[in-house]
Amino acid sequence: MSDTPEQQVQEISRPQMTGKRVLVTGVTGWVAGPVATALAASGNTVYGAARFRDPAQREPLESSGVQTISIDLQKARFDEVPNDIDVVLNFAVAKVNDFEVAFAANAEGPAALMELCRPEMFLHCSSTAVYAPDDHKPRRENDPLGDSHRPMPGMPTYSISKIAAEVLVKYTARRLGIPAVIARLNVPYGDAYGWMMFHLMMMERGIPVPVHVNQPTSYTPIHSDDIVRSIPYLLSLASVPTTIVNWGGEDVAGIEDWCTEMGRLTGLTPEFAPTEATIAAIVPDLTKLHSTGFRSHVDWRTGLARQISTTRPDLLK
Ligand SMILES: NC(=O)c1ccc[n+]([C@@H]2O[C@H](COP(=O)([O-])OP(=O)(O)OC[C@H]3O[C@@H](n4cnc5c(N)ncnc54)[C@H](OP(=O)(O)O)[C@@H]3O)[C@@H](O)[C@H]2O)c1
Repeated sequence: MSDTPEQQVQEISRPQMTGKRVLVTGVTGWVAGPVATALAASGNTVYGAARFRDPAQREPLESSGVQTISIDLQKARFDEVPNDIDVVLNFAVAKVNDFEVAFAANAEGPAALMELCRPEMFLHCSSTAVYAPDDHKPRRENDPLGDSHRPMPGMPTYSISKIAAEVLVKYTARRLGIPAVIARLNVPYGDAYGWMMFHLMMMERGIPVPVHVNQPTSYTPIHSDDIVRSIPYLLSLASVPTTIVNWGGEDVAGIEDWCTEMGRLTGLTPEFAPTEATIAAIVPDLTKLHSTGFRSHVDWRTGLARQISTTRPDLLK
């Protein structure tokens, strides 16, 4: 779908980031890879960091103009980090069962990296997983926090270590006088990644998709194109003390909605399994994000169609 006239105006006047030395952590992950390659393509010197235990992961990034370096946030191993980094975008996350490892990698690591780099600006990618879900009420940045991901199998440390990370990032940024922004991301997806891909696989195999008993299981998905576009807007909020901002797309859509839409596109019929053992709906209030002038452009149905065309064109009707 092409942009509306309002979106075209926003596009012309939108803030850009160029000519910066940027360190992007978590670069082999879903969210950070497209951000790093887009920043490299728009005139920045981009260092993409991860452990790179599989060296083959470097090649596609290097060929997109991202200089890859190995770091280990858990161990504070930063010997390959170059000097004079202007901007750090911290997307790395360890999704592990061990709290000690999770705190070291997700909380102490970013603080130590900030201390080392002392950048002009630091963006820490957090998650709306830090909120205590409260029915379907939109969550504002000062709403109560909680362990929302605990019921989800395999995510016991996630919410708590992301909360710990926010505290350490905020404290360290204030102590060092570094303008920082903590952006609480909702449900990211792109042409080649996203939670929906797992749901599509389940639909293909006739496995019921877990949804929360308090349906609908609503979120505000944001497409990778919009994640990339939003970076300069988020950085415009970097401040001392740190600003916290919710980060999501315009539309509220639930797992039930996107599975139904994927069914329409593919002819597969979703089955749902309401359960307490999954993440409840978390809808972020986006007032603060919108105050920067940012609005997402890719509506979730278009984004979903793009994703299936890219990853599973064989399933399209
Ligand atoms: N995915 C979501 O649905 C979602 C939703 C809300 C917020 N977020 C947030 O978005 C950010 C990106 O998430 P994602 O889903 O893209 O992550 P991901 O795909 O799981 O990737 C994690 C990244 O972190 C790196 N990493 C893990 N442990 C590390 C360590 N000890 N040292 C250095 N790097 C390490 C990994 O690379 P190596 O293993 O090669 O080191 C990888 O590049 C995270 O902050 C996450 O909390 C994600």
